Amino acid sequence: MLFTLPQSVLIIGGSSQIAQAIAKECADASTVISMISRQVAPKTDEQPPPFHWLQDELQTKVSSQQCINLALEHQPDTIFICNGVLHDASAMPEKTLLQLDSELLAHRFHTNVIVPAQYLQALYRYLTKTPNVKVLVLSAKVGSITDNVLGGWYSYRMTKAALNMLVKNLSIEVARINKTASLVTLHPGTTDTPLSEPFQKNLPLGQLQTPAQTAKRLLKVSAQLTPYQTGQLLNWDASKLPF
Ligand SMILES: NC(=O)c1ccc[n+]([C@@H]2O[C@H](COP(=O)([O-])OP(=O)(O)OC[C@H]3O[C@@H](n4cnc5c(N)ncnc54)[C@H](OP(=O)(O)O)[C@@H]3O)[C@@H](O)[C@H]2O)c1
Repeated sequence: MLFTLPQSVLIIGGSSQIAQAIAKECADASTVISMISRQVAPKTDEQPPPFHWLQDELQTKVSSQQCINLALEHQPDTIFICNGVLHDASAMPEKTLLQLDSELLAHRFHTNVIVPAQYLQALYRYLTKTPNVKVLVLSAKVGSITDNVLGGWYSYRMTKAALNMLVKNLSIEVARINKTASLVTLHPGTTDTPLSEPFQKNLPLGQLQTPAQTAKRLLKVSAQLTPYQTGQLLNWDASKLPF
């Protein structure tokens, strides 16, 4: 690899296929890896496993803060937040406003915005006092209002746009106290995971990446991230996307 991997990484939303791939890339180096997830720790052949796994069932703010506090004992220099839902058993993304369901929208807002916001809140003190800390929150290009020419996918687009605003806002606040912090939202590129699986048929050849390819790309973005980029929405190749 032609870039430096984090010395200590915290990956939130650890069951995400992209999160798992980031952890795997880091495990091949000597990176300390902490992962937070609603899920129980995956089984590994290695004893001890190459990561610290913290289960957070998102029951209360206090329990999430406790998980974050445990993870921060490993002093992460890089933090990925991977939580995000496009579809689930209850619904596919809307093709028309007529399919918009307020309960579902509230549910998507919870997973795609409120959960990352609560974790960022739990990380707040750490972000304001840790030199050169980097936070990369996985968003989506379809959350760019400027880039939207196709329409559709109301809940996902609206919640990712809100996520972009959350991180932009926080980047301004943190920069007042810690000028060395870098907080960005990041489009990982279309990646072969359960999230994109129903939409892979008509993709142009070469667009779909494996989670391992995406993990390498995102780790390269994080390695090269600087405070000058804080607040931006970045593409998987570190180019700036419009909001
Ligand atoms: N795959 C793509 O092509 C693509 C494209 C653009 C953007 N993205 C973004 O990249 C990120 C990772 O995507 P992925 O493809 O790796 O997805 P994935 O494998 O389907 O992972 C889903 C993620 O969402 C979290 N999650 C699911 N339901 C949740 C709930 N009710 N409350 C809180 N968290 C919940 C999971 O966290 P737990 O570990 O707690 O289960 C996990 O981190 C997402 O933010 C997604 O929007 C992906």
